[in-house]
Formats: sequence, C-alpha cells, structure tokens
Amino acid sequence: MPPLLADLPPYLTLRRGALANAAAHLDLHRRVLVVTDAGVPPAYAQALAEAAAQSSPAAPPPIPLTLPSGEATKCPALLAAVHRALLKRDFTRRDCVIAVGGGVIGDLAGFAAATYMRGIDFYNVPTTLLAQLDSSIGGKTAIDFEGVKNVIGAFHPPRHVLIDPDVLDTLPPRQLRAGLAEAIKMAATSDPALFALLERSTDLRADLPEIIRRALLVKATVVAADPYEANLRRVLNFGHTLGHAIEAAARGDLLHGECVAIGMLPFAGPALRPRLAALLRKYGLPTTSPLPPDVLRPFLLHDKKATASAITAVFADEVGAFRFQSLPPDEILALLPP
Ligand SMILES: NC(=O)c1ccc[n+]([C@@H]2O[C@H](COP(=O)([O-])OP(=O)(O)OC[C@H]3O[C@@H](n4cnc5c(N)ncnc54)[C@H](O)[C@@H]3O)[C@@H](O)[C@H]2O)c1
Repeated sequence: MPPLLADLPPYLTLRRGALANAAAHLDLHRRVLVVTDAGVPPAYAQALAEAAAQSSPAAPPPIPLTLPSGEATKCPALLAAVHRALLKRDFTRRDCVIAVGGGVIGDLAGFAAATYMRGIDFYNVPTTLLAQLDSSIGGKTAIDFEGVKNVIGAFHPPRHVLIDPDVLDTLPPRQLRAGLAEAIKMAATSDPALFALLERSTDLRADLPEIIRRALLVKATVVAADPYEANLRRVLNFGHTLGHAIEAAARGDLLHGECVAIGMLPFAGPALRPRLAALLRKYGLPTTSPLPPDVLRPFLLHDKKATASAITAVFADEVGAFRFQSLPPDEILALLPP
C-alpha cells in the first residue's frame, strides 16, 4: 500500500454547504442534464439546476430527469431514458451530465455519460454516505443486466465530485449506518487513524466530514495506484467476498453495507476481530450472517472473483495491514462462525 495522499485530489470538493456554491466548482456554461431519483429530496437537484441557470442565463435551461429509486433503476431501459433525454435536447460532446443521488444514480448517470457520443463530461454530487465516501470516486460506472450486478459498465471518472455532508441530514439512519460500514472497511485495512476516530467518536454528525475525508484519501490513494483494478484496488473488496454472497442470498432484505459488515469479521485476524466487532456494534451494524453456509455456497460460487478451485479474498490481520489469499470456496464458508 503506498503512503496515503496528504490531501484530497483537486477533482474532489468536500465542504458543508458546498451544494449552494456548486457553480464555483462545476463548469455549467453549457447544456446540463441533472439526473436524480425519486427518493432523493428534490431540493438537492434543484440547487444544482439553479446554479446552472444562474451561472449561464444565456444557455438552455438545465434539464431535470427524475428516475425511480432502487437498484432496479440500474437497467438498460432507464439507461436508454437518460440517453433519450440527451439526444432529444441535442446534447453534444461539449455538454455534461450531473448525478445527484446515491450509488445507483451515480452508476447509471455515469455510464450514460460514458457511452453517449463515446463519452461526455460527468459530475457526481453524491447524497448518500456510501456514495460520498466510496462509489462517487474511482470512475466505475455500470448497470445491472440479466440479473447480474454491474456487468455492463465502463471506467469513466467524474470531472468533479461535489460532496456536501449536510445532505446526509435527510438520509435514513439505516442508510447512514450502511455507508459507515464502507468507512470501517477502509479504516480496517488501510488507515489506523480513521479506525481510531471511528472508535472514539461521540458525535457522528460533527465527525462525518473528517470520516468522509479520510475514507476518500484511502480510496483516492488506492485508485491512483491501480485505476483499472489490476491488483491493489482489490483491497477495497475487504468484506465483499462473503458480503456479496449474503447480499444476493438475502434478496434485498439487507443493504450492501450491512452485508459488508457481516462479511468483514471472518477475514479479520485475532488482533483485529474484537475491535472490529465492537466498532460494528457501536454503529448498529450486523456482525453475523442470518443465512447458513449451505445457503450461501451457490451465491459465493457465482461471485465474479471465483475461479474453479479458489477465491481470492482480502484478509486484515491488524488495523492497517491486509493481504490477499486464495482459498477454496468451502474454506471461505468455513470462516463463518457457526
Ligand atoms: N461505482 C462504484 O465504485 C460503486 C461502489 C460501491 C457501490 N456502488 C453501487 O452503489 C449502489 C448503492 O448505492 P447507495 O447505497 O448510495 O444506494 P442508493 O443510491 O439506492 O440510495 C439509497 C436510498 O437513499 C435515497 N437517498 C439518497 N440520498 C438521500 C438523501 N440525502 N436523503 C434521503 N434519501 C436519500 C435514495 O433515493 C435511495 O432510496 C449499488 O448499485 C452499488 O452497486 C458503486
């Protein structure tokens, strides 16, 4: 693991109230499509639309597009809806798409921007904690297809990511906790200082900007070293090997972050496990799988990281130290506590 970046890269703005000042960070002097979903408070997309209208009164007014919320939105039909909106309003390669929402809208709008006219500018304004500290950076965009998650996609990094922690005030607490699981994941493998901050925090709202900042430093460091997930970037999959299987087997009953929380503990060494379990419990995250190994087995074998005989998983032996190890699927399942 290279040393963590000292500062956020220039394509990231993280500030309370940043939404009200969007025009200072994004080039809005052009056609702008603002994509959001019906579960995101409309005021956030409106703030972007107003910033675009004010910064460029002569340009055509920004186009709002509100899609249904939920994972099912990452589908070919709604990808086509975004493309259709762009085409109908004569968007060219000089114009841009802004995502205002969680990882679902970021992935879908980002992929639409990646593919329209072979790629137009994309801005991400993430409004869930998961999106603010994880999915909005790194350039991965995708939709789901034929029941397989993220199988059609592209690397298309956003030109800028505008992160306003104030929008998290409206996020349901369960979603907030699920996002924290990804921060805990990055802390456990790569940042003892973030782990300690999460352990000692007594005022989560006050500490969120620093938690987001440190998690972004981990992700930005890893992504800069391995933009196309050839190697190091797989560290971000800590907790995901069993987590993905649990998420698929639970069929929507558990959030992604909750499954990652459950999926981390079996891969934590004895020095880390009690601290990690205490941290997960502190933030109201589950620590045991509601489903037994035999139910999870077929889902684990469908995991894209599976090969015929072995699955490569991320292990963390102590805070800030990780390793990759390949194990047969049954040995992975045997790591789950009885
Ligand atoms: N591209 C990547 O690198 C990457 C990484 C991790 C996850 N993902 C993807 O992210 C998606 C999950 O993202 P998510 O957890 O953000 O879920 P999400 O986008 O479905 O958002 C969760 C819910 O919160 C609502 N919401 C969003 N912002 C809100 C706010 N400020 N106030 C109130 N409600 C709000 C949404 O309407 C939605 O109902 C998955 O599809 C996953 O594959 C992508």
